[in-house]
Amino acid sequence: MSATSRSTLLGLLVLVSACGDSTPGYTLQQVMFEIDLSKLRLEEALILPEGLESARMHAGSIERWLRDPAFEAYVESERFPGDTARFAALRSEFEGAFAELSGALAAGDLEAARTAYPRMLGACTTCHDVYRPGL
Ligand code: HEC
Repeated sequence: MSATSRSTLLGLLVLVSACGDSTPGYTLQQVMFEIDLSKLRLEEALILPEGLESARMHAGSIERWLRDPAFEAYVESERFPGDTARFAALRSEFEGAFAELSGALAAGDLEAARTAYPRMLGACTTCHDVYRPGL
């Protein structure tokens, strides 16, 4: 990398961090888009007879995004409409549905994972009905 492009990069980084708020990181919306992408890839993998490895990989990606601090940041933000307990309940409902799916994948049971998949989607919708209506 040339000295010029390095200093341009550094300038950009300074600019980005100066524009950011005091809690840098992903917004919940960004995390949701990532989860949505992995969900689509997971769905494609589940359809394939040989999709187990790929399905595990994309489920693993969802699992990592579920641990992102964006969830806590959202609850603490001004945009949060309140009722922390309800959000936590919907979140753990989703995690339960997701655990069923990833458990099936860990056991190598593609058929059980296919059954668990629409239940997981149902748990996405249950939360959106309250916190992101119209999605
Ligand atoms: C516990 C609650 C909850 C669960 C579970 C949840 N979401 Fe969301 N989702 C939200 C909230 C809140 C937003 C709005 C975020 C914002 O705009 O700040 C959102 C927004 C989104 C968006 C839209 C981003 C936009 O602005 O257009 C997508 C896509 C999305 N979620 C996908 C999913 C998928 C797929 C799942 C399940 C695999 C899921 N979500 C599970 C709470 C949840």
